[in-house]
Amino acid sequence: MNRTDWFADARFGLFLHWGLYAIPGRGEWTYAMDRWEPGIYEALQQQFDPVDFDPALWACLAKAAGMRYVVFTTRHHDGFCMFDSHYTDYKITNTPYGRDVTRMLADAFRAEGLGVGFYHSLPDWTHPGYADPESPEFYQTGKVPVATPEDHAAYRDLLYNHIEQLMTEYGKIDILFLDYTSKHKADEDYFDRERILEMVYRLQPEIIVNDRLSYFKDNVRDFDYYTPEICLLNDQLKVKGKPVLWETCATMNHHWGYCGDDTAYKDLHTLTTGLMGCVSHNGNLLLNIGPDPLGRFPEQAVERLQQLADWYQWAGEAIFGCGASDYTPPFGCAYTQKGNTLYCYLLTAPMGDLILPELKGKIRRITDLRTGAEIPMIDHWGFELLRPDEQRIRPTDPQPGDVFKIELV
Ligand code: GLC
Repeated sequence: MNRTDWFADARFGLFLHWGLYAIPGRGEWTYAMDRWEPGIYEALQQQFDPVDFDPALWACLAKAAGMRYVVFTTRHHDGFCMFDSHYTDYKITNTPYGRDVTRMLADAFRAEGLGVGFYHSLPDWTHPGYADPESPEFYQTGKVPVATPEDHAAYRDLLYNHIEQLMTEYGKIDILFLDYTSKHKADEDYFDRERILEMVYRLQPEIIVNDRLSYFKDNVRDFDYYTPEICLLNDQLKVKGKPVLWETCATMNHHWGYCGDDTAYKDLHTLTTGLMGCVSHNGNLLLNIGPDPLGRFPEQAVERLQQLADWYQWAGEAIFGCGASDYTPPFGCAYTQKGNTLYCYLLTAPMGDLILPELKGKIRRITDLRTGAEIPMIDHWGFELLRPDEQRIRPTDPQPGDVFKIELV
């Protein structure tokens, strides 16, 4: 087994953006975007009391939906630590709630057999040693902040120390998702990359680490996996000419952090299409939820997870352990493949019969996973205008989101 094999098999994970920003409920960039008076945002910590936080329930919902791992915001760009930091009082254990939610969450997801991933922000907008145009000061005053070398060194140390604590005190961590290096830092090693990575791999030898510790450049080291955002790739991602592991993260509505006003949730078909779109190009989907200030998933998010769970019950075998197919799918479909089995996902309902390229004489059986019915292969139909390698099939009442299992001979 390769260190990253489990991740390539898993295909589907849950992203959680949760922090003080859940209280104002305008997304996790509110600190930068909404002109908070100095100190007022930070004071939200005196109000944070998510009495309904129930990580066992979250883990259960995620697992039923087919998710195999979680990635949790241990600290976002607002600098607030959702774990019991040894290095700052600006942290979850210093709120009315007072408990280390990162530990509770890691334990609960592990207990359900899910992988545990920590998101940790590289920027910290509250620290004078982090200076970048993509930060509150610039948005509010138009002036680019400048850090003294001493402050910047202190900033780097704090980042290092936080990650070191997370890698030491929370058991086995499967994923480290560092976010992000701004384009203004493209040409410098602002975070002391190798120092962090040496420590992370020493403390957690099996961990996999994403690519955002550097702005994308050809001349930097290879990362364990690559993370496009809110988009599907059209193909297997290649870096420096070689195929790499990748995962796209996406929101369920239009925000990462909680936003009560944003009720525009994607429908089930959009979500399953996104997931199959990733798997069919050897990628993973990390689907996000922003829990509310009381520690609850928004109602619509729960509804989506339950719908995904219903779909996953019968369609799940087309996801876990599957990847891109060697074959060309018919019009309006996507393929995933595991060994000698193809899974044909219907992006849209076909107008009539489906024509499968390249599969003539290669199919043993086709089953509609939703209904369990066998799908007949049509050998001859009037004027036969198909290419010799094409196989015509006739599903009964096919619907978008259906999956046909094609067992090859
Ligand atoms: C973007 C957003 C950030 C979010 C991340 C998730 O970088 O700025 O707030 O956490 O996407 O990938």
